Amino acid sequence: MKAWRASAFAVYGYLNFTKSGFKEHSKKFKEEDMQVRLDGKNCIVTGANSGIGFATAEGLAARGASVYMVCRSKERGETALSQIQSKTGNQKVYLEVCDLSSVGEIKSLATKFISKDLPVHLLVNNAGILEHKRITTPEGFELNFAVNVLGTYTLTELMLPLLEEAAPDARVITVSSGGMYTAPLTTDLQFSEGKFDGIAQYGRNKRVQVALTEKWAEMYKHKGIGFYSMHPGWAETPGVAKSLPGFSQKFSGNLRTSEEGADTVIWLALQPKEKLVSGGFYFDRAEAPKQLPFTATKGSHVLMDSIYDTLHSISGIPAQNQTVGAAQS
Ligand SMILES: NC(=O)c1ccc[n+]([C@@H]2O[C@H](COP(=O)([O-])OP(=O)(O)OC[C@H]3O[C@@H](n4cnc5c(N)ncnc54)[C@H](OP(=O)(O)O)[C@@H]3O)[C@@H](O)[C@H]2O)c1
Repeated sequence: MKAWRASAFAVYGYLNFTKSGFKEHSKKFKEEDMQVRLDGKNCIVTGANSGIGFATAEGLAARGASVYMVCRSKERGETALSQIQSKTGNQKVYLEVCDLSSVGEIKSLATKFISKDLPVHLLVNNAGILEHKRITTPEGFELNFAVNVLGTYTLTELMLPLLEEAAPDARVITVSSGGMYTAPLTTDLQFSEGKFDGIAQYGRNKRVQVALTEKWAEMYKHKGIGFYSMHPGWAETPGVAKSLPGFSQKFSGNLRTSEEGADTVIWLALQPKEKLVSGGFYFDRAEAPKQLPFTATKGSHVLMDSIYDTLHSISGIPAQNQTVGAAQS
């Protein structure tokens, strides 16, 4: 089954995720879809100092949004912030320093946002990593899981009251990956069983993001918040160069730019919500399948309820946060 999954992914990816895939798909893109202003909208972008997150923050700022960049490094964040301000002329770009592998730091960040009492129109969960070694954070979580899954879960859940303030125009976009096509959901969230494999763990994490997006869409469907996951395609970013140097070299010249990777994130932020499917997985400005043929990953989504309960329990988020939306779903 593993070999089937890998082959289906390689063929589909080569045809669609590369730069040539973007060129082909962009023939159907409509220019007017992107000609939307975001003045007065408050947007949070995680991992905004680099790659797809930087291009997303820049694209939102260029359209007049107030952009809150969440970065783990003050220095890298400040450099990116001043580049975005000078490129877009938008001074309403701000930096929040937070290590998203730490639940404690995310809680402090959320408290800071809540004290500003700012409606949040858009949260982009972009920050992500692919760490090949099994590293444990000071809070005791496997690092890929901590950033990609637990960080995404905790920040989104804690932002719900502020997203609700922006409803019905609130949305959460989570940057997942086509890597999820190779991975069914598993309750072994921290890869505690068997020999650790960072690439497999990344795929598992990205599958959780897609299933979690579905779960949030269902739980909070009466709250005026849209939840979308997406795949940026294969883009040449500092993250890819560092984590997958062989892949980066092999596809050199046929990888997307960060702007092309961010294109669907920005498109999702700009379209009227009636045009979008909450809980959907998007790629190149269209809803995409969550499973590939021959990969047998679909049935695994039944595990999401128990995974959600685990995330809730280990994040230590107070009960009222969870029941706000759940009670109405
Ligand atoms: N590029 C691709 O081909 C591709 C394909 C599929 C999915 N994706 C997804 O796209 C997203 C962006 O990736 P990218 O390719 O643009 O990589 P990138 O250039 O490495 O950007 C990742 C961003 O996440 C930040 N980040 C990592 N760990 C963090 C932490 N603990 N706390 C706060 N921020 C943290 C990084 O900060 P530092 O700069 O401080 O490290 C960086 O700003 C990721 O979710 C990735 O999985 C990318």
